[in-house]
Amino acid sequence: MAKLRAEHLYKVFGRRPDEAVAQLEGGADREELRASGTTAAVVDASFAVEAGQIFVVMGLSGSGKSTLLRMLNGLLEPTAGRVLFDDDDLTALTPRGLREVRSRKISMVFQHFALFPHRSVLENAAYGLEVQGVPRDERVRRATEALELVGLAGWEKSWPDELSGGMQQRVGLARALATNADMLLMDESFSALDPLIRRDMQDQLIQLQRRLKKTIVFITHDLNEAMRLGDRIAVMRDGKIVQIGTAEDILVTPANDYVASFTQDVDRSRVLTAGAIMSEPDEVLGTETDDGTTLRTAQDVLAAAPATVTEGTPIIELFQPCSRSGVAVAVTNDDGALTGVVTRARLLAALGDPDGGPDGAQPPSDGTPDAPETTKKVITGA
Ligand SMILES: Nc1ncnc2c1ncn2[C@@H]1O[C@H](COP(=O)(O)OP(=O)(O)OP(=O)(O)O)[C@@H](O)[C@H]1O
Ligand SMILES: [Mg+2]
Repeated sequence: MAKLRAEHLYKVFGRRPDEAVAQLEGGADREELRASGTTAAVVDASFAVEAGQIFVVMGLSGSGKSTLLRMLNGLLEPTAGRVLFDDDDLTALTPRGLREVRSRKISMVFQHFALFPHRSVLENAAYGLEVQGVPRDERVRRATEALELVGLAGWEKSWPDELSGGMQQRVGLARALATNADMLLMDESFSALDPLIRRDMQDQLIQLQRRLKKTIVFITHDLNEAMRLGDRIAVMRDGKIVQIGTAEDILVTPANDYVASFTQDVDRSRVLTAGAIMSEPDEVLGTETDDGTTLRTAQDVLAAAPATVTEGTPIIELFQPCSRSGVAVAVTNDDGALTGVVTRARLLAALGDPDGGPDGAQPPSDGTPDAPETTKKVITGA
């Protein structure tokens, strides 16, 4: 069941927002409206976030990400459209009902940690509970647990300025977790951190998520971060969602040139999996191995493979096996049956070619320009 659903959401800033929505629905673009002093920050955004998933919204500065996020917890009222949380229409709630949802069910983690400098780490982590009116003993207990979850046990009595940026951001995360909210909204929560610490935080979020199974909407302008974290990713441009899909969907079949241009900087080897680039086992049937055996059956292919992996194996783990001799890495399902093969040429093609995917990657016999002569030889056995 979808935990959260956005239906045709619009947010227009400026004069006569309703007229602007009608114009947008009629096909007007953002630039036309801007001429009359109106900003269409979010235009016709629809999506569903499944319970327990991390849904990432990715886009450049000004594309409307924060505006969209603020509509999801009712901080901003949509100009048009609806937000359904647990099938309740947030847009129809009274201000009081909305405050209730915001304090108990949906928690927000910001880019700048928003800690109170004159409160201890524990008091900062307990802040959301204080707002809810939770009694002191319970606040302390739950905030202490949340700090432990984010790896800050022992720091309860410290002051925020005694903590590094990464640790401060963990306090922000602990504050959100302490409220027991099912859903976390995270707006560029890791963007202010140094790259290494940022990666640590991403890892930690992934690990926490495995245990806690929250529903998370995470905003970032960094596609690598989006792809590491997102079960699904929405790419925004000029207020519109231009593509929604898994990291692999976006890499392998970008919806347009705009999305494709983002994916050029992505570390494909960590996002793409064996399943996305493998070909049918037929591709290597009839091939001769180095010791002169001809591959005729799935068993032969398995026996000759330098390694056996599953469809979910990231392709970065295929380089080593592919560098050993052998015809192709074998891809098997849970029962150990052969479902596909990855040749060395296919691996190289998938990395180099933005279209490299199930259909885009060319076998070496078709003349992949980047595949060196020696590679062809090993793989085709020619
Ligand atoms: N309160 C407001 N009044 C008028 N215009 C606004 C308001 N809030 C946002 N905007 C405009 O809406 C557009 C989208 O802004 P938004 O902050 O949602 O983008 P963003 O994707 O979060 O950008 P960033 O990555 O810089 O945080 C921008 O053109 C912005 O100037
Ligand atoms: Mg923003």
